[in-house]
Amino acid sequence: MSDFLSMYSIQHWLESCPQGYLEGTAYGHDPDVREPELLIQDDLLREQAIRTTVQLVVGERCALAASSGLINACPDQPSARFLATQTLDEARHVEIFTQRLLDLGVKKNELESVIQAHANPNLVKFAEILLEKVDKKDFVSGVVGQNIVLEGMAFTVFELLHQTSQAMNPKFAQTLSGTIADERRHVGFGENRIGSLIKENPGKKPEVEKMQQEMSYYMLATFADSFRNMDAREEIQRAKEQAGAAGITRRCWPTPS
Ligand SMILES: [Fe+2]
Ligand SMILES: [Fe+2]
Repeated sequence: MSDFLSMYSIQHWLESCPQGYLEGTAYGHDPDVREPELLIQDDLLREQAIRTTVQLVVGERCALAASSGLINACPDQPSARFLATQTLDEARHVEIFTQRLLDLGVKKNELESVIQAHANPNLVKFAEILLEKVDKKDFVSGVVGQNIVLEGMAFTVFELLHQTSQAMNPKFAQTLSGTIADERRHVGFGENRIGSLIKENPGKKPEVEKMQQEMSYYMLATFADSFRNMDAREEIQRAKEQAGAAGITRRCWPTPS
């Protein structure tokens, strides 16, 4: 427990996060870097970046609601303090990805309607399953749903996005690398805490497994939708390139839905 106390304490969080890898950053990145000009100028690429970033905002809003809600369902004080640090991390993630939407040209007064229009319904359903458990103050299901299922998957998505944006978009890559460091801490807490929770509550296993299955189903459906959109975009991009070669104006081409 003493390791647990120091690893997940507010003191450790202060030293490693705000006074560590986030020091000198603005919205998670070097204040001098910008979104690449190519991305801002190309309607198709910009639309794609907005759509991806909206899913990150939706996921992070869910994590913010879940981590803050779980504080009041906590059976022990060290976990409550850790979840307080996680709540601030998640609020920061919501803020930095929302800021990215603004940087990509979304107007402040259109923010909520853009998020609503682009939010993947399967991701929304995924969030609802988790938040239902949190609302019932079900700490075991909440920690599994948030710190194992949601954050395990978020971690993988962030790493993939980080790898693909490192060369072309240092601003987004930097934003992601701080987020990845935070998520690593959150997943670590879940993995550390869940063993004893399951041991103390053996009767919860079937309910937790059912929730895991449901959440995984909607997350896989979200991924399938993203890949379908990507295929459509790739086809349009290919057609645009051919049209460009043939001298046809790019304005003819629709943006993928
Ligand atoms: Fe997060
Ligand atoms: Fe997280």
